[in-house]
Amino acid sequence: MFPHQLLLLSLLLFFSLTKTMPIKTISKATMGMDPEELEGLYEVMGGLLDDPNWSDLHPDPCTDTPWPGIQCELDQPSLLLHVTRLHIAPDVAGSPPCKPHPNLSTKSLSKLPFLKTLSLFQCFTNTTTRASLSPSLFTNSSVLEQLVLNSNTGLVGEVPSSISEVKTLRVLSLSQNGLYGEIPREIGGLKRLEQLDLSYNSFNGEIPSEIGLMESLTILDLSFNGLQGMVPDSIGLLGSLQKIDLSSNNLSGRLPPQMGKLDGLVLLDVSHNSIEGPLPETLSGLKDLQYFLMEDNPVNTGLPLFLGELKELTVLSLSSCGFTSQIPWFIGSMKRLSALTLDKNGLNGSIPINIEGLPQLNQLNLSQNRLTGEISFNTEFVRRLGKRLDVRGNNGLCFTNNEVLVLEQVPACLDANDNKSSNTHNMSTLGVGPPDPVKLRPSSDNVKGETSGCCCGALWVCQKKSVVCAWVLFIGLLFLVIF
Ligand SMILES: *[C@@H]1O[C@H](CO)[C@@H](O)[C@H](O)[C@H]1NC(C)=O
Ligand SMILES: *[C@@H]1O[C@H](CO)[C@@H](O)[C@H](O)[C@H]1NC(C)=O
Ligand SMILES: *[C@@H]1O[C@H](CO)[C@@H](O)[C@H](O)[C@H]1NC(C)=O
Ligand SMILES: *[C@@H]1O[C@H](CO)[C@@H](O)[C@H](O)[C@H]1NC(C)=O
Ligand SMILES: *[C@@H]1O[C@H](CO)[C@@H](O)[C@H](O)[C@H]1NC(C)=O
Ligand SMILES: *[C@@H]1O[C@H](CO)[C@@H](O)[C@H](O)[C@H]1NC(C)=O
Ligand SMILES: *[C@@H]1O[C@H](CO)[C@@H](O)[C@H](O)[C@H]1NC(C)=O
Ligand SMILES: *[C@@H]1O[C@H](CO)[C@@H](O)[C@H](O)[C@H]1NC(C)=O
Ligand SMILES: *[C@@H]1O[C@H](CO)[C@@H](O)[C@H](O)[C@H]1NC(C)=O
Repeated sequence: MFPHQLLLLSLLLFFSLTKTMPIKTISKATMGMDPEELEGLYEVMGGLLDDPNWSDLHPDPCTDTPWPGIQCELDQPSLLLHVTRLHIAPDVAGSPPCKPHPNLSTKSLSKLPFLKTLSLFQCFTNTTTRASLSPSLFTNSSVLEQLVLNSNTGLVGEVPSSISEVKTLRVLSLSQNGLYGEIPREIGGLKRLEQLDLSYNSFNGEIPSEIGLMESLTILDLSFNGLQGMVPDSIGLLGSLQKIDLSSNNLSGRLPPQMGKLDGLVLLDVSHNSIEGPLPETLSGLKDLQYFLMEDNPVNTGLPLFLGELKELTVLSLSSCGFTSQIPWFIGSMKRLSALTLDKNGLNGSIPINIEGLPQLNQLNLSQNRLTGEISFNTEFVRRLGKRLDVRGNNGLCFTNNEVLVLEQVPACLDANDNKSSNTHNMSTLGVGPPDPVKLRPSSDNVKGETSGCCCGALWVCQKKSVVCAWVLFIGLLFLVIF
């Protein structure tokens, strides 16, 4: 309305090196901005920022008075400067704060037709006077590639379906706002979108199956919303996906087998949902998976065998999933594991001793299960993990090592009390049972010299003497076969 009262901004000039010459070699008189674009810039900034005097201090926005929040690019043939990036955040040095009631107007924004990046952090923060995304903000004439509106708690309402008009979008990040409603199906029309982050809002309804159309997607983050229903099969079409975070929603049903096609996936987080078992065996196809997090879901099966094929896994977090089985021996061959959390399940049997051989492991939580038998991790392992080794809450476990730390968590084994002089065990308290093929220690493994009280009857195997026992078994079987 009163352009002379609108802000003038100091702008920093950035040149796209590919198509421009250094600014100093061009006569400044020949460069300039389209007056309408300049006006649009002042209007947009005037609607957002709380500093009426900036205009006077910075009369020549794209050239003289640098401001890190704005980038301009020189259009070579016309020698016109265009605003291509607008970034307003508390971390931008010298930036005045946003107004108490900022306003992003469609009309003003449309005067910046070359804008490729718009990012506003902590600008719409007043939750009493709330702002929303107008459908008219998004048109097919826009060349916007990155729309990043983060931590604007006063930004509420639905994401207009017109967002799909902006075909140039590569990054859409609307994290930590007050947005709600369903994720618009039309979003599938964003074929070039590489990153979709709608985390920490209040979206509900189902994940639209149309997300399967966003063929360029590498990052999908819908965590911390109220999304329901099943993970759509179509997610398996997104062959470029590297990260899927659907944690802390209300998703239910089984994970779709199609997910196993995502062979570039590095992170899969579905923690804190209502995902049921069994998990599809096709997930063995996630050859690059490093982070598999699904704590707090009612899976209620045994630990899935496909885990053994995920050789890149570094973090495996399966707490509170109702897993009832033994801990499979192959866990000890997942050499890249650095964190293994299996607490609060119904895991039984003994702890595979080969876990101590995992070179990267520095966190192991097996607490609150029904594990039995003796823990005989070597001292180096126990020291390395320190407090990050947690085996509490397993009534059938006892400990034969001298590390004080673990002795506090579980009682010493009977033979340890006996100063390792006895060779007898109370079978029932130690949970020593018939040999279990999954747990049998391969004979190629290092066997420690110490032989703290172990039983080794004809068909009874204890972990420490498993090599000897395996031989006994082997010879026994040989006799059976021969005779
Ligand atoms: C803006 O400038 C006017 C006069 O130039 C001055 O009176 C006023 O205090 C300034 N306001 C701010 C917020 O600096
Ligand atoms: C937003 O700003 C535009 C022009 O800058 C104005 O016409 C409109 O009324 C403003 N809207 C609100 C809600 O303040
Ligand atoms: C939000 O806006 C209302 C209405 O203008 C105002 O009373 C309140 O103080 C503002 N809250 C904050 C935190 O600025
Ligand atoms: C852009 O949208 C307008 C009206 O919404 C339409 O008339 C026009 O054909 C569209 N242009 C393209 C390239 O889709
Ligand atoms: C989660 O979904 C179930 C139905 O699938 C519903 O009964 C429950 O109320 C939902 N919980 C929340 C917090 O939305
Ligand atoms: C572990 O639990 C399962 C199911 O509850 C049971 O079938 C199995 O025998 C148990 N194994 C051991 C070693 O206790
Ligand atoms: C292990 O898991 C239990 C139960 O979930 C939890 O209380 C404990 O803090 C965890 N321990 C460590 C060391 O993280
Ligand atoms: C082992 O024996 C020594 C002396 O023989 C004794 O001081 C110690 O308390 C014994 N340890 C246990 C756990 O019984
Ligand atoms: C062995 O364990 C069982 C069951 O926990 C118990 O009843 C029995 O008294 C124990 N025997 C010895 C010798 O400690």
